[in-house]
Amino acid sequence: MKITIIGGGYVGLVTGACFADIGHGVTIIDVDPIKVGMVNEKKAPIFEPGLEPILARTTGKNLHASLSFDSITSSDLTFICVGTPPNDDGSANLSYIESASRSIGTALQNATGFHVVVVKSTVPPGTTETVVLPAVLSSAHKTEDEIGFAMNPEFLREGRAIEDFRQPDRIVIGSNQPYAGDRVAEVYQKFSAPVVRTGLAAAEMIKYTSNAFLATKISFSNEIGNVCKELGIDVNEVMKGVGLDQRIGQQFLNAGAGFGGSCFPKDVSSLAMLAGRAGIDPKILRAVLEVNEYQPYRLVALLEKKAGNLSGKRIAVLGLAFKDNTDDVRDSRAIPVIQELLKKGARVVAFDPMAGPNMKKIFPGIDYAGSAGEALKGADGCLVMTEWPEFGRIDKEFELMAHRIVIEGRRILTWNGAEGICW
Ligand code: UGA
Repeated sequence: MKITIIGGGYVGLVTGACFADIGHGVTIIDVDPIKVGMVNEKKAPIFEPGLEPILARTTGKNLHASLSFDSITSSDLTFICVGTPPNDDGSANLSYIESASRSIGTALQNATGFHVVVVKSTVPPGTTETVVLPAVLSSAHKTEDEIGFAMNPEFLREGRAIEDFRQPDRIVIGSNQPYAGDRVAEVYQKFSAPVVRTGLAAAEMIKYTSNAFLATKISFSNEIGNVCKELGIDVNEVMKGVGLDQRIGQQFLNAGAGFGGSCFPKDVSSLAMLAGRAGIDPKILRAVLEVNEYQPYRLVALLEKKAGNLSGKRIAVLGLAFKDNTDDVRDSRAIPVIQELLKKGARVVAFDPMAGPNMKKIFPGIDYAGSAGEALKGADGCLVMTEWPEFGRIDKEFELMAHRIVIEGRRILTWNGAEGICW
């Protein structure tokens, strides 16, 4: 099928590249000429394992990037994959969704044949029906007989997005009319995952609810972990025993420094906001966010308990990305930790295998080491903030510390001198 993707961010790029890889003809549209140029040169503008080999196979053949909206006119479907960043009040900013919708509508004025506009961005329930649909139809001067609308949420984890795309647990397709949904289902014909067909708003709500539930599992595990720590119980042993109950499941029960990234914090806040507007007090969602906000401070408090007053002390922060396998620092739990350390007068030296340059934009004044060993040399304490597998191999480097006080926010070290945030 001929597909246009609006937005060459992480979702748009992965989706476009993977669609091309299964044989569809794909054009990715982005406003950033640097990004467009990179994709057309088979280079990934973001770090995502496995993406570049796909670009190498498809770019210039059935995958192209462009600054212009021309490809929409001759496409069967257009996927909206633009960002929905948070407003100051926690609600989702839909301005990119609106402008993409108007541009799609304008491009469809001269189109012949049935076209389907598919929202893949994470949007509050009601957005496709009340924002995208009217903006596209009025700009195109067309009716719902000529343009169909669908909502097809993504469930891709950064760092594992290609494998998540190829082996989805389910494919959710919400649509305003069955035929529009059928066309989207055709795109996924080669997948064996169950397809869930719904209305537009239910598909939007499935995405919010999935992220909110996963975030709830994490905050719940963190609260239990905090209790376990006080009682001298290993939370990981507990969660292993709990997670083997198939009704609960083992994933996302890892207690630690809390969830970060561009999705969970934003989506839970946005859902809580939405609940409030609907007259519902979102008690659980508020608690999920509250537990998450507190974990980084708990980590610094544990360090302080062992190291004493942090003023003037050299503290190594290992791990800056919001999780392993990415250079993304958005809402990383390392950010409040570094802020708190600086507030307490500590001298911070940070190391991350990939995310140093991105964190430097937020904290230009702290030291950045080129290796874990360099960060640990002479340090009075260390906080581990990201579950990078390579941190599991750090051993002798801890001997370089002035004082071997190491607190883990993620259970990743194999060195046995560390204390965990919840274990
Ligand atoms: C998340 C969801 O997992 C995806 O399904 C969804 O598509 C995506 O958001 C999105 O909405 O686009 P992502 O934010 O990339 O994906 O990363 P996760 O692997 O879910 O991790 C999020 C955070 O939770 C990380 O900071 C991680 O360290 C933390 N986490 C995860 C825990 O603290 N404990 C766990 O057990 C699992």
